[in-house]
Amino acid sequence: MRGTRVEIRPAALRHNARRAVELAGEAQVFAMVKANGYGHGLLLAAEAIHESVSGLGVAVLEEARALRENGITLPILVAEGFFDDKELQDAERLSLEVVVHSLWQVALLLANPCPVRIWLKVNTGMNRLGLRPDEALEAAARLSEVGNAPVGVMSHFACADVEHDRHSEKQLLLAGTIAEQLQLPLSASNSAALLRYPRARAQQVRPGIMLYGSSPFDWQTAAELGLQVSHRFSARLIAINVVETGESVGYGATWTATEPRQIGVVAVGYGDGYPRHAPSGTPVAVNGVVTTLVGRVSMDMITIDVTGLSASVGDEVELWGDVVDVDDVARACGTISYELFCQITQRPERTIV
Ligand SMILES: Cc1ncc(COP(=O)(O)O)c(C=O)c1O
Repeated sequence: MRGTRVEIRPAALRHNARRAVELAGEAQVFAMVKANGYGHGLLLAAEAIHESVSGLGVAVLEEARALRENGITLPILVAEGFFDDKELQDAERLSLEVVVHSLWQVALLLANPCPVRIWLKVNTGMNRLGLRPDEALEAAARLSEVGNAPVGVMSHFACADVEHDRHSEKQLLLAGTIAEQLQLPLSASNSAALLRYPRARAQQVRPGIMLYGSSPFDWQTAAELGLQVSHRFSARLIAINVVETGESVGYGATWTATEPRQIGVVAVGYGDGYPRHAPSGTPVAVNGVVTTLVGRVSMDMITIDVTGLSASVGDEVELWGDVVDVDDVARACGTISYELFCQITQRPERTIV
């Protein structure tokens, strides 16, 4: 066995969901399970947490359909809404809650009234999806006339995870004003806002990354936030070589030994979803001891410094999980844990623990 595997921990997902519910207070928690449950498995994530939360959130209708076909009966919010009238009918048939974020969707709905539950997304400063406030008020009125009154107002924070955040307060004020004018519940908070801004909890929150045991903040770890590790990525040492002073390792010879080193070859690469842009110095752990990646990541292998670690061929190397914080790996790679979780390929063995 090559031994390259991803361990998924439903109990940790459940723990993290309960933490979100605790923080949310009176607000409903819609757990984001889009993008294959942030790489954990769509159904696995949904099944692990569905008893703890009020609803689930996905990006697209196909994800919601897969949940329904597998017996998930919770409310499901579809964040990108529908793309055509066929999807609108499907959403209604599958009892989904769809987000209306653009005027073309309003027009489509006005032309094809359908008793589907809709959340009106308002652009409060993210400037990605969402109607402008005046458009949202007008759309709500017109949709009500055809029997498609929105059931809620939704907004999304641009900077809730930024240390010196100067956006969220303004965004919340605007979203709150619109929800109040329309006398509708408000859904605004992602994980960062839920963890940080009690006032932003409103009537519904939509945490994602915190459920998967990662911190949205640079200044606080997941453990400090009371979250548990739900995703552990590991592989095995398949060779150990001595590299002499002045010799380089791997493609492009990007790393050169300044003294004799023992270099372990680990059976994981970007073909498994380990990030190719991970630089020399990225943390990994051998038998629970932290060391570093050296040289370039290849498709099927990485090379790590095992000097002085009494490591042997066959030993386990943790890429992230219990000893190596996924957020530290993400920082070393100039990315976020979201991307690391999502880009794991089909090749590693999945184990559910
Ligand atoms: C609309 C929407 N709501 C909520 C979330 C959850 O955000 P996070 O994973 O940062 O908690 C996302 C994630 O990107 C999103 O797109």
